Amino acid sequence: MKPLHRLGTVLLFLFAVVLLWQTQPSVQAAPGTDQAAQVILPAGKPVQIKVPLGLPPLPIPPDNPPTAETIALGRRLYYDPLLSSDNSVSCASCHDPQTGFTDRHSVSQGVGRKTGTRHSPTVINSAYSTLQFWDGRAPSLEEQAKGPIANPVEMASTHADVVKRLQADPKYVALFKEAWGTDQITIDLVVKSIASFERTVLCGNSPFDRFYYGHDKKAISASAQRGLKLFTDPKKGNCAVCHTIGKDYALFTDNKFHNLGIGADLRGNLNDLGRFSVTKSDADTGAFKTPTLRNIAVRAPFMHDGSFPTVKDALAHYIGGGNANAHLDKEIHALDFLSFDERDDLLAFLDSLTTKLPDNVGAPADLQPVAKPSAQKQ
Ligand code: HEC
Ligand code: HEC
Repeated sequence: MKPLHRLGTVLLFLFAVVLLWQTQPSVQAAPGTDQAAQVILPAGKPVQIKVPLGLPPLPIPPDNPPTAETIALGRRLYYDPLLSSDNSVSCASCHDPQTGFTDRHSVSQGVGRKTGTRHSPTVINSAYSTLQFWDGRAPSLEEQAKGPIANPVEMASTHADVVKRLQADPKYVALFKEAWGTDQITIDLVVKSIASFERTVLCGNSPFDRFYYGHDKKAISASAQRGLKLFTDPKKGNCAVCHTIGKDYALFTDNKFHNLGIGADLRGNLNDLGRFSVTKSDADTGAFKTPTLRNIAVRAPFMHDGSFPTVKDALAHYIGGGNANAHLDKEIHALDFLSFDERDDLLAFLDSLTTKLPDNVGAPADLQPVAKPSAQKQ
């Protein structure tokens, strides 16, 4: 009887496993929780987002393949001030297509003109960032988008309130239904839609790309061509060691964190610890994520604290060898040996990285921002 007994035990065990298997998801998938949304895939057919010349294949998370409907919904959410507590601030207030998906302030202004401590980085090509934010504290565009909605100095709302407002708007209920096949709006579906829209904000095919990857010898000037050599030469500008240019594509970022001494005082004290606040690793003190340099010409001011009003000012920082402090990156050293012509060549090269935005990334017609004095060009 022993084998039968054993079979009984095995069957009982299997039964228990199946039971657990079945009950677990229904416990986790209570409506409104993160777990419930994780299993929801878009209702429509996934689309291939077109990648311009000079960019690598687009990374897409398996649980959020973009569809025409989720992208359109995300675009609307991105430009809708409904996501802020007093209907005054949208994502585009601080990441405005007119200024290369950043803003003109050194540090961003949110609801009630409250200010944060950092400059708004560009959303352009952020689909390629392995970590989001200057300090890399968010692992994905989806996770990133949850931050500003609830940040008291940005949109100053709550996830619950945003979901409630969207659910109360019949137009959004219909759009969510179309995009996600559900009547139940959740914050996860909100951020997944926004992330899919952001994945369409791609800039490549600049004069530089047409020269370097498209082999059009006339795409950039002779000065910009010399600038490119200086940019990549480790003995000259040494810029490409961090702002990388690959064989088939160029992101102009290594997706890593470096200390340039931005924000350091004359004694080398840093006012923002950057990546250190996430990793608590001494080596990350005052280190910030290398930003892309694409569309740099329309994105002033520069650096994590927006302290440089022009590209020329940013270059001057490198010429001077950065601000001395205990954690200055070892790749940063004075470039005062560069002649004035060489400095001009570097600027001409940086200028060649700017290109027009893709179609269909601006505000939907009925959500065009009302011209506020602060939104106008200075
Ligand atoms: C009040 C201004 C403000 C608003 C509103 C705002 N952001 Fe930001 N955004 C910032 C600032 C400032 C940072 C950098 C913060 C940091 O690194 O600590 C940032 C970072 C980001 C990043 C990371 C980019 C990178 O290179 O790391 C993305 C993507 C982004 N925001 C998208 C959004 C989206 C989507 C919304 C709307 C849901 C939004 N932002 C709303 C100011 C804003
Ligand atoms: C050691 C890595 C490293 C090297 C080398 C480097 N950069 Fe950077 N670059 C960064 C980081 C990191 C930032 C952001 C720093 C911050 O805000 O604290 C940055 C910011 C910039 C910005 C501002 C971009 C923005 O969106 O605000 C420009 C312009 C720039 N670099 C150009 C250059 C040029 C030109 C060179 C060569 C002369 C160069 N970089 C060399 C890492 C580097």
